Amino acid sequence: MSPDTYIHGTEPSEQERLAGLNRMTNAAFIQFLNVSPGARVLEVGSGLGLLANEVAATAPGVDVDGVEVSAAQLAAARPGPRVTFRQGDAHALDFPDGSFDLVYARYLLEHVADPDRVVREMRRVTTPGGRVAVCENDVSLLRFDPPCRAFDRAWDVFTRFQSALGGDGLVGRRLFRLFKSAGFSAIELSVQPEVHWHGSAGYVAWVHNIIGNLESARNGMLAAGVLSTADFDAAVDELERLKTDPLGSAVFVWNRAIAVR
Ligand SMILES: C[S@@+](CC[C@H](N)C(=O)[O-])C[C@H]1O[C@@H](n2cnc3c(N)ncnc32)[C@H](O)[C@@H]1O
Repeated sequence: MSPDTYIHGTEPSEQERLAGLNRMTNAAFIQFLNVSPGARVLEVGSGLGLLANEVAATAPGVDVDGVEVSAAQLAAARPGPRVTFRQGDAHALDFPDGSFDLVYARYLLEHVADPDRVVREMRRVTTPGGRVAVCENDVSLLRFDPPCRAFDRAWDVFTRFQSALGGDGLVGRRLFRLFKSAGFSAIELSVQPEVHWHGSAGYVAWVHNIIGNLESARNGMLAAGVLSTADFDAAVDELERLKTDPLGSAVFVWNRAIAVR
């Protein structure tokens, strides 16, 4: 996928949203990765590099490489100690076979043209006995209460718009199949929950993140004529009201897979 077809784009407002999402989700994902001291690690689709920097700091002697297709994301990334970022495409990783002990991707497979090929590439560059891990989206699992009908309609358009760009916002449900096809046998699936309610610590930030998701695709959806300005505004207004609704709550799960090569 070229940077032009990346549904979220790389505007500063979107990079801020991605940084906020990192603050919300990094700790649980790093626990899931369970990185060993001295591990050679690769993040595929490393974005702003925030996660890669935290992964490198989780245990002594961990080296992390990040591969990212977008020059704008790389320009905003600040490598910490033992971290290197380079431009590249997840479909054709520029590393020899068996280069890493742990290869992971997060929020990437939904954006790539060929997730099967990306998972196969991730497996190829993993050392025998090493691990491959992913955490991905299935946007259909997002629930708000009280119901947000205007948002639900816009979210449905957003999902179809992402497919039209060559991505797949539902890819999270396919992880087991993708890993099997890539040749893995010992695969574990799990979920990382987002359960928030009015007054809970992460509630406003989570609803704000979902608004940011929609906003990142606003210009594209309006230009493509798949959503009207009025329908877009109604969806955002609904979620803005939900932020302050004393009865508001939100449930979602990220889909994860991990396997040994
Ligand atoms: C939602 S961001 C996630 C970034 C990071 N993994 C994180 O968790 O914060 C997805 C990133 O994947 C990158 N990307 C999309 N297609 C790619 C490809 N084919 N190869 C490498 N990176 C890609 C995008 O440019 C974007 O920075």
